[in-house]
Amino acid sequence: MKEGNSILISFIFKMRLLFVFMGAIAVASHNCLCTPTFNVIDYGATGDGQIDDSQAFVKAWEDVCDTSYGNPTLLIPEEKIFLLQPVSFRGPCKSAIINIELKGSIVAPSIMEGWKWATNKRHTWILFSHIRGLVMHGGGQIDGQGAPWWNCYSNTNHCEDRPTALRFHDCENLMLRGLTSINSPKNHISLNKCNGAIVSELHIIAPHDSPNTDGIDISKSFNILINNSKMETGDDCIAINHGSSFISIVGVYCGPGHGISVGSLGKNGARETVEDIYVRNCTFNGTTNGARIKTWTGGEGYARKITFEDIILVHTKNPLIIDQQYNPYDSAHAVRVSHVNYHNVRGTSSSKHAVKLHCDKIIGCTNIVLKRINITSATGEETYASCNNAKGVCSSCIPHVPCLSRE
Ligand SMILES: *[C@@H]1O[C@H](CO)[C@@H](O)[C@H](O)[C@H]1NC(C)=O
Ligand SMILES: *[C@@H]1O[C@H](CO)[C@@H](O)[C@H](O)[C@H]1NC(C)=O
Ligand SMILES: *[C@@H]1O[C@H](CO)[C@@H](O)[C@H](O)[C@H]1NC(C)=O
Ligand SMILES: *[C@@H]1O[C@H](CO)[C@@H](O)[C@H](O)[C@H]1NC(C)=O
Repeated sequence: MKEGNSILISFIFKMRLLFVFMGAIAVASHNCLCTPTFNVIDYGATGDGQIDDSQAFVKAWEDVCDTSYGNPTLLIPEEKIFLLQPVSFRGPCKSAIINIELKGSIVAPSIMEGWKWATNKRHTWILFSHIRGLVMHGGGQIDGQGAPWWNCYSNTNHCEDRPTALRFHDCENLMLRGLTSINSPKNHISLNKCNGAIVSELHIIAPHDSPNTDGIDISKSFNILINNSKMETGDDCIAINHGSSFISIVGVYCGPGHGISVGSLGKNGARETVEDIYVRNCTFNGTTNGARIKTWTGGEGYARKITFEDIILVHTKNPLIIDQQYNPYDSAHAVRVSHVNYHNVRGTSSSKHAVKLHCDKIIGCTNIVLKRINITSATGEETYASCNNAKGVCSSCIPHVPCLSRE
């Protein structure tokens, strides 16, 4: 618990310093506190929801990115709907901070045939890459119009191109605040190779049965805080994947969906790592999993130093689950799972089988600590835990976890 808190505090401190520092640079270099603003309407965007406004956005972005004084701002005005084709906003930019004020709505083409892909750039609708100090806020909405993609199974319809709505690739010191993202064709937000991000007050919504509509996927990223947000989707609320560390998730409400997930790690024998993950004050309501760690059989690497603390469960199917798949043919290889803490987890499980710690026979899971767990069954029956090859401690646990020692 102390370790997790210190991760969060040192991280918040670092991020504050960074933003203050970046602001100071912006002011010092041009002696200007001004906000040069570039409104997409002035670049020919119509905002009628019908005409493709992508080119206007790209042109406005080029000017924002090229501005070296003040706080250059791309303005997407309110009460308008902007239809965008797959589009990419690239850096590096000249200013230390770039603002995107999204007040209106952005929508994707409503039918799959309407998507116009640049030749080799599929799988992402809106891409931000190689940008430092991007601040995106404004209370607006992003609508991926995902419905036709969710039911797409044929080869002729390019189902395999099903895109992520918003992807941040190679970013530094990103701030995303107060936005709504709905109905992405696939995952809503992807953070890949990002160092330093504060994501807060997001609302992500997709139907409970929409496939792969994760809220936020994180990979190869460090120093990320996701804070005060609500995710109602058809898949993971937040998924923390390979190469991620120092990730804090605080005050996030998940449900419906699949909960917060570390992994899957180690697919196809890959060596993958995740560490220093801190999840606090989160609610899982009607999710299939709560706090999940999943690794593939035959992989290598580790998932370690992971804390879930102050968690509320409402009708969660698998509240606490570690699934380190056992491979009878290749037990020398497994992604190591260690130093996992579950503290103060309470509420109801929709199944009686509330805790599953299923670890590999040879490698096992080590230093697993459960403290103050009280998971009761939503139907009033007694809950139980199952547990293979997990070592650690369980104190004040309902249900009791048989392979852990009582403190
Ligand atoms: C979470 O985000 C809010 C803004 O919604 C901010 O005021 C607060 O300080 C953040 N909390 C943490 C723990 O960082
Ligand atoms: C916990 O998170 C909720 C949002 O889900 C927030 O309203 C509340 O203030 C947080 N409580 C604490 C103690 O951080
Ligand atoms: C859980 O979700 C149900 C159904 O949406 C809702 O009625 C209830 O208020 C939620 N409970 C909590 C604690 O958020
Ligand atoms: C566990 O939770 C149940 C249901 O909320 C409650 O009745 C019970 O007193 C709790 N037990 C402990 C030891 O806190």
